[in-house]
Amino acid sequence: MSKTQIHRGKVRVGDTVVSDPSYLFDPEADEVFYKGEKVNYSEHVYIVMNKPKGVLCATEDKNQKTVLDILPQEFLRKNIFPVGRLDKDTTGLLILTDDGQFAHKCIAPSKTVGKTYSVVLDGELSPDLVDLFKNGITLADDTVCKPAKLEIIDKNVAELTITEGKYHQIKRMFGTVGLGVVELKRIKIGLFDLPENLQEGECRMLSESEKLDLLAT
Ligand code: URA
Repeated sequence: MSKTQIHRGKVRVGDTVVSDPSYLFDPEADEVFYKGEKVNYSEHVYIVMNKPKGVLCATEDKNQKTVLDILPQEFLRKNIFPVGRLDKDTTGLLILTDDGQFAHKCIAPSKTVGKTYSVVLDGELSPDLVDLFKNGITLADDTVCKPAKLEIIDKNVAELTITEGKYHQIKRMFGTVGLGVVELKRIKIGLFDLPENLQEGECRMLSESEKLDLLAT
């Protein structure tokens, strides 16, 4: 609801019409009504976005567009941030929230929530890679990756599930075996799939059950 709607007397807290947008209500005790209908207030917001190419996963940037710049006004909240990072040229499932604890549960490597990516490569995938990734591949700079699940879909298309988020991890994992990533899209986190009807650049609020699916290991 906008400040104008509040000024117009469309908002009631309990039995009292409140026309001052700075009015502080008690989220635990007060019932808030907008145009007579009860508003289900929640302390935090949880948003799913289908990230398009060309935008940064950051809260602000002097020169480039960020995922917050493309978030519709009604989703914006103070302290909102993207959960984890997708590269500028990566598309797909991105969660935005203002709930730090939830974000931690989703991305902390110790929580082992799987993130699945659809990957198009510039060369042919060898079946040997399945075991190589399963055993934890060592990157060129000696960083050891946790076990990852590789499913070969086509000769140069795969789905890869990882449980951590090292810098450019997937590009570096394939780079180690001489393959370049041509397209990268995140399609799943935990048990939550990128909604099919969410077009690139679109977003919507998550339901309670979707929030649980996101944290499922
Ligand atoms: N791994 C990458 O290399 N890039 C991403 O955006 C995500 C995972």
